[in-house]
Amino acid sequence: MENNENQSYSEVTLSVVDPEKPLPTDIYLKVNEKFIKFKSKGDPIGTDKFELFISKGVKNIFIISDEIMDFLAWLNSSKAEEEDSFAKEAGEESRGFFQRTQNFKEKIYEVYFEEELNEEIVEALQDNVSDFVENIKESPITAQAISLMLNKNQGVADHSVNVANLSVFLGMALGHGHQFVLENLYMGAIFHDYGKLKIDPKVLESDNSRLYSNAIQEHPLSGVKMLRKTQGIPVQVLTIIEQHHEQFNGHGYPKGMSGDDIYDLAQVVSMANVFDNTLTEGKQLPTRERNKRAIKVIEFDKGKLWNPKYIPRVIEALTLAFSIKKEVA
Ligand SMILES: [Fe+2]
Repeated sequence: MENNENQSYSEVTLSVVDPEKPLPTDIYLKVNEKFIKFKSKGDPIGTDKFELFISKGVKNIFIISDEIMDFLAWLNSSKAEEEDSFAKEAGEESRGFFQRTQNFKEKIYEVYFEEELNEEIVEALQDNVSDFVENIKESPITAQAISLMLNKNQGVADHSVNVANLSVFLGMALGHGHQFVLENLYMGAIFHDYGKLKIDPKVLESDNSRLYSNAIQEHPLSGVKMLRKTQGIPVQVLTIIEQHHEQFNGHGYPKGMSGDDIYDLAQVVSMANVFDNTLTEGKQLPTRERNKRAIKVIEFDKGKLWNPKYIPRVIEALTLAFSIKKEVA
């Protein structure tokens, strides 16, 4: 279709669109100040494309202004349909929760990827993180997940919450600002060791035994297996769980994936996981030493576990967050 110079377009937030529903009108993207047709009426956006755009920071799509009323009517009716089916499944009393999460899905956190980090920016990032975490904790799925893990194994539950909070911080520091992406990151981190809950605690304590190492090798996939049947767990969350022990150099498990084949959010959770484990191992050290040591583990990785492109930014963010520079100076 010819791009008509005089055509006027209206903006709609991408995240409110259900990527699997056939669109009521054509939609456009704005590239270098030009409107490019992206999808035709009747086609869905598709979850893969949707997620790719969201993770790349595309916030809006455009509709020809003459058709915007049709588009908005479609948005409203699909929201109402979704709300009805949610209320049918989860009970009438959950309507309010559904409405709150819908509004919240439109939220985009400010990130500062283009800027050099300093104390002020890191403080703002930390505020964003607490804001995000407070909200997501109200979600029934998150609350259920945490209490389920607490009942089974307090250690795994505490570790999971730490890793989830830290993952969101690192994710934001690496430029992820969208609710949709951060939610997947948080849930992936909460559930990353879910497969460990199936392991007999006696086996978990028996270091070096064959049983122990087999169980450990299996925990990413058994976590995925256990959660696959749970409704409402997005595939991105399962991918994080499956790949959180894969390594950039290909020496990880369960599949030995390498380089960019590993999902970037799984790499973020892997960094947070190692960081928290190093903190726990250094329990006897003074806090500052402990933090310094955990940061060093990431700094000295040199492409073993993680893509080196993340490291400078992650080190900067962690150093500022734990005020290492400030105290050293
Ligand atoms: Fe793990």
